[in-house]
Amino acid sequence: MSRTTTKYNWGIAKKIMVSKIKTRPEVRSAKILAWYDRHQRHLPWRARPGVQPDPYFVWLSEIMLQQTTVVTVKSYFEHFIATWPKLEDLAAAPLDDILHAWQGLGYYARARNLHKCAQVVAAQYDGKFPDEEQDLLSLPGIGPYTAAAITAIAFGKKATPVDGNIERVMARLFAVMEPLPKSKSQLRDLAGGMTPDDRAGDYAQALMDIGATICTPKKPNCSICPLSGDCRAEKEGLASELPRRVPKKKKPTRYGTAFWLINPSGEIMLRRRREQGLLGGMIEVPSSDWQEKSRSSSEILDEAPVEIDWQMLPGKIRHTFTHFHLELEIAVGHLAVDSSVNGIWCDVNEFGAHALPTVMKKVVAHALEFQD
Ligand code: ADE
Repeated sequence: MSRTTTKYNWGIAKKIMVSKIKTRPEVRSAKILAWYDRHQRHLPWRARPGVQPDPYFVWLSEIMLQQTTVVTVKSYFEHFIATWPKLEDLAAAPLDDILHAWQGLGYYARARNLHKCAQVVAAQYDGKFPDEEQDLLSLPGIGPYTAAAITAIAFGKKATPVDGNIERVMARLFAVMEPLPKSKSQLRDLAGGMTPDDRAGDYAQALMDIGATICTPKKPNCSICPLSGDCRAEKEGLASELPRRVPKKKKPTRYGTAFWLINPSGEIMLRRRREQGLLGGMIEVPSSDWQEKSRSSSEILDEAPVEIDWQMLPGKIRHTFTHFHLELEIAVGHLAVDSSVNGIWCDVNEFGAHALPTVMKKVVAHALEFQD
C-alpha cells in the first residue's frame, strides 16, 4: 500500500504563521529606537546623543510645544534661552518681559504659568525640577502630558507622554477604529505598553518624529516607516483614514466693538485685561463684551470707556480662538481735553513695548488704516 503524502503549500502556510505571530512590544520599541538613532530630528532643545538633557530646556520646550508647531517654537525657544539661560533667570524676569517674548505663541495663560512655575522651582526646589511625575504634576502649567514628557525626556525615567502624533501612530499601528476623543485612553495604553524601561524619552521622541515626518495625517509614507509590515492600518489599507474623529462642533461667532480712543496729544488708550479668563492680564484696545447675540449700537456704546461721540470705522476684524470666532467692529473717538480716563496712554510708535495679543494687533492695524 502506497503511503499518501499531503502536499503542503508552504508559501501560504508561512503567510498564515507570520500573520499569527504577534510582534512583541520590546521588538517594536527596539525598532523604533534604532530608527531614532539614525533619523531623529535635530531640535534646539534636544540633547545630543550621550549628553544629559537639561530639564529646564525640556520643560520650556514642552510648554511652548503645547498647541504650537515645532517650526514655530524653534526661534522662540532659542530667544528664550539666549535671554534667560537658566531657570533662575526666567524666575527673576519681570512677567511683562516674558509676555512680550511670548507674543505670537498664543495662550498667554501658558506664559504666566511658565513664570509661576519657574518661581516655584527656584524657590522650593533649589532651581532643580523634581524627577517624579507626581511632583511635576503639582507645578503650575504642568499637566499629565507635560509631567510624563519631562519625566521621560529629561530624566530618562519610564513614563509615556502621548501627544497627537503618538495617538496617530498608535491608531494606525493597531488599527484602532474607535474615534477620538473616546479612544484616547486606549491609545495611551497601547503606547504605554511598548514603552521600554530604558530610553523612555527617546522612545517618546522617536514616536513624535515618526508621527511628524512619516506617519503624517495625510499621505503617510509607509514605505520608509520602521513599523512597516507590522502596522495593521497599512496592511488593511486604512492608514490615511485613521485616527477617526467624532466631528467637531461648529464654533460659534461672538461680536464686539473695540474703542480706539485718541487724546489731544494723539496717544491711544490701552488697558490691561483682568487677570482671569481669556487673554488674562494682556494689554488691549478697550472693547465691549464679546457676545454671541447681536446688540444695538446704543447698548454697545454704553460699554465705551467714555461717553463721547464715537464714529464706526468701515469693515471689521476677524479672529479665531480655540472655542469661538470673533468679529470686532472698531469705533473711533477723540477726547477734547486730556482727562483722567483710566488707562495706559500710548503713542502708536510705542505699541511695540507692550505685549499685544494677535487679535489686538489686528485691531491696531485696522484702525491705523483709517488714521490720518
Ligand atoms: N512635540 C512635543 N514635544 C516634542 C518633542 N520633545 N520633540 C518633538 N516634538 C514634540
